[in-house]
Parts: sequence; C-alpha cells; structure tokens
Amino acid sequence: LVHITDIHHRGDRTYLQKVVARINSLRPDSVCITGDLIGDMVDKQEHLDEVLSILSGIRSPVYGVPGNHDYWSKLSFDPIAECLAATGGAWLMDSTALTKDGFLHIIGLSGRTTSAPVPPRMKGKINVLLMHYPAWVKRLPDRYDLVLAGHSHGGQIRLPLYGAPVLPFSVDEYDLGLFHTPAGPLYVNPGLGWFPVAARFNCRPEITLFEM
Ligand SMILES: [Fe+2]
Repeated sequence: LVHITDIHHRGDRTYLQKVVARINSLRPDSVCITGDLIGDMVDKQEHLDEVLSILSGIRSPVYGVPGNHDYWSKLSFDPIAECLAATGGAWLMDSTALTKDGFLHIIGLSGRTTSAPVPPRMKGKINVLLMHYPAWVKRLPDRYDLVLAGHSHGGQIRLPLYGAPVLPFSVDEYDLGLFHTPAGPLYVNPGLGWFPVAARFNCRPEITLFEM
C-alpha cells in the first residue's frame, strides 16, 4: 500500500509526473491519498483538473479523502470521485471500500464535521482508516490495523533537537511519522507539497510504502 498526501498542486506537472512514475515503479496493490490535492491562495479548477489528469496515470486503485483545502477551494468533488473510481478505487466521504482482492477494508473520513459517525470496521479484513487531520485519531471509536493522515506537512521546517516550530490546527502531538495510539498505529505523512510557504527543511516530501 502506498500513502501520499497534501499534494497542493499549483501547476508543477513535472514534479507530479515524477511522483506518479515512482508510485508505479513500486507496483502497490492500493494507493491512498489523505487530502489537499490542491490548495493555494487562489484555487483554480485548472489545478484540480491537472492533478486529476496526472493522478489518473497511477496503475493501481486509488482511494482518497478530502482535506481542508479541498473544501476551501469550493470546487466540486465529483471529478475527483470519477477519477478515483476510474482507477478502480474510490473517493471516500464517510464511507468504505473493499479492495478487489478482498484483503483491505478502507474506511475514509470526509473530515467535514467532527460529529459525522465513523463507518464501522469489517471483521476478518485488514481495516485501514484514512483521514486528513492527525488529531482526529483521538475521536476514533475503535481500533484499526492502520490509520493514515496528512495535513501537518511535518511542519515543513524541522529544527534539529527541537522539531517543528509551526504546525497547523488539528495536529496536536501527532506531527510526523508513526504513533502508537489506542486507535491503532497512526502514520502521519509529511506530504508532497507546501502551504503557505514554499520551503522545507529537514522534512523531505514523502511517498510511503507499507507492506501489509
Ligand atoms: Fe490540510
């Protein structure tokens, strides 16, 4: 399973095409995206169209949930849902999908409101939960085999011996990497893009590969 997040696409086609080529070279059974496909000061339909056209080159089923910037863009999610469905995956808005091999049960949170009920796990399957906000791990009602989140960007700037001086809301202590939580192992991916500043230090963009 490959996990990517927070692409924040602004038109850098070459970078995203390289990401897709790298993902394809890993030959994953599934690809999971935990939000913020786009996200700039001025959000454009063309950026969403472009990110979807490049992501459609992924030769594995792609599953995804939205992030705050996808909502803030006010663009329709319909093209995203169509694009992911065409890969054999699904856009999960407080809903679930079973992979074709019947191996993984993927639960996706819309992130729209903290009061939305979390869809139940499926017994006998590996349950993977996708959400945008790392801190939401505290409100999960059950234990999952793997919980994936983004949003933090790892802080983008990480000082040695200190960590990230600046983190967004709804991250709390889950800024980057693997955390053992009552809801199961939570992995917080540093993301592929940036917001609000085009800078990273000691916090490289990441394509994460999980062997289940
Ligand atoms: Fe975000």
